Amino acid sequence: MRNIIMAGNWKMNKDAQSTVLFCKGLAEGIRDLSAGVKVIVAPPYPFLGLALEALKGSAAQVAAQNVSFNSDGAYTGEVSAPMLASLGIPYCIIGHSERRQYHGETDQTVLSRQIKLASSGITPIICVGETLAERDAHKTAQVILTQLKGCFETITISDPQSVIIAYEPVWAIGTGRTATPEQAQEVHSLIRSWLAQRCSAAIASDLHILYGGSAKPDNIRDLLVQEDIDGALIGGASLTLEQYLPMLLTANELIKARNPQ
Ligand code: PGA
Repeated sequence: MRNIIMAGNWKMNKDAQSTVLFCKGLAEGIRDLSAGVKVIVAPPYPFLGLALEALKGSAAQVAAQNVSFNSDGAYTGEVSAPMLASLGIPYCIIGHSERRQYHGETDQTVLSRQIKLASSGITPIICVGETLAERDAHKTAQVILTQLKGCFETITISDPQSVIIAYEPVWAIGTGRTATPEQAQEVHSLIRSWLAQRCSAAIASDLHILYGGSAKPDNIRDLLVQEDIDGALIGGASLTLEQYLPMLLTANELIKARNPQ
């Protein structure tokens, strides 16, 4: 049975003070949340320690936004998986379309990063998604399957909790233009079918597939009720408690409705 994962990707936003303020408010705001909603925040690297400290004792967990595909050595500006593990970071986003677009990320480098994260016991949140041109050319399925094959080329998934996949249509990220719940569901279902073939029906049915791309308080419910949407990777709307908390509460309502006591 899958729970709901709500992950906030801060991208390159906030400073030290606002990180602490936000995390303290988040800890307070999610005190009564059901255990069926997993809350994650992904601050920029310099604020990971502050976020961990401010969220200590709360159910929210911290993710990094990227990781090096090397373990250590002369790689100026990079941060390795063992470094993240030494802080106690349980999750790391990789393959985000902004990394692909601006920093040369490819399916091959996502695979290399995934291998490093696995050996440090960190769960990757692997992003895939098509551009508008690809969608308009009816290449969405082809693009997603190619990305999945590349990102998982030499990977055996034996534990469905060890990997999270995020479907993020590039045309919906930061644009205010969300995929319709039906468009998102179609791709999520494609990803789950691929997982069933590639791994097993059991892995496919338990692995979390998140939606990302202009998810907001007013569209999150319609997305989360879709059969194969197991949560969201939220950018802009995860930056303020005014927007993020209501989304978490909606997830909480849906989980409670699914598992009435
Ligand atoms: P957005 O970003 O919610 O601001 O569209 C989502 C993401 O890039 O993860």
